[in-house]
Amino acid sequence: MTSLQPADRLAGLPRLGVGLSYQAPLRGFVLEHLDSFDFLELIPDIFWADQGRGAPDRYRESVDAAPFLARVAASKPLIAHSVGLSIGSGDPFDAAHVEQIAAWQERYGFPWHSDHLSFNRLEHVTGHFMDTGVTLPVPFDHEVLDLLCERVDRVQARIPVPFLLENNVYYFEIPEQDMTEAEFLNRLTERTGCGLLLDLHNIYTNARNLGFDPWSMLASLDLSRVVEVHLGGGMEVDGVWLDAHSGPCPEEVWAMLEEVLPRAPRLCGVVFEMFGNYYPQVGPEPLLAELGRARRVLERRAA
Ligand SMILES: [Fe+2]
Repeated sequence: MTSLQPADRLAGLPRLGVGLSYQAPLRGFVLEHLDSFDFLELIPDIFWADQGRGAPDRYRESVDAAPFLARVAASKPLIAHSVGLSIGSGDPFDAAHVEQIAAWQERYGFPWHSDHLSFNRLEHVTGHFMDTGVTLPVPFDHEVLDLLCERVDRVQARIPVPFLLENNVYYFEIPEQDMTEAEFLNRLTERTGCGLLLDLHNIYTNARNLGFDPWSMLASLDLSRVVEVHLGGGMEVDGVWLDAHSGPCPEEVWAMLEEVLPRAPRLCGVVFEMFGNYYPQVGPEPLLAELGRARRVLERRAA
């Protein structure tokens, strides 16, 4: 199966600047420190309870989501970074999820939206479908690439703003893959015209645990498709670096950002990710420091 060669879907996007990834425990921080970021990135799926495919009234939205989001949206752009599409699953494409994202895009005017290059929905041996609760990596194979390209085309045909996929974290390498990760991402973005959400801490984590060189991976990646970058931090447990989103970025991730910037002419946003459950421990200062550092890096680039 082939996808149509797309026109430049990523042209003319607004350069938003520094973004914060929203988590419920950060609600107070968001409202108190609106000046510390330029846009707020949402996982929209946390604002509704998905009753499952085919269920009537499938998406039951949180009653207090709308006033909070309207308050933030009055002064900051919102971006959707969904986790619910499971675009790499073998089961049928979830068109209803795309409809729900389309409705939120219309409501909040997201200038672009994204999801994960992964799968989290799969069939249990009992015949029921289950959600793994984590985003699992797809094999970098031709067959998977064809499946993804068709699905990305369907998302792009339905939602009138650019769609990005995010490179995933993985703690093991699937054997005998057809392509490297960089080749796979390059082909996916070239064939569909979608953008890349480049998570630098995911690359750092994969490289550190699996022993490859992140710089040569970046060197072989087409960074002209990068619209957004994710930054984050982690921790080492029993010799494994975890993509824990637990605090400040490692210095090497900041160095990777410096490498990416001159090669990413379509970059519109750099988002710092921290899981909200760490916020009561670390407090606002590390968040403010990382957001401020990202802003200074972008300002140097603009200058
Ligand atoms: Fe990320």
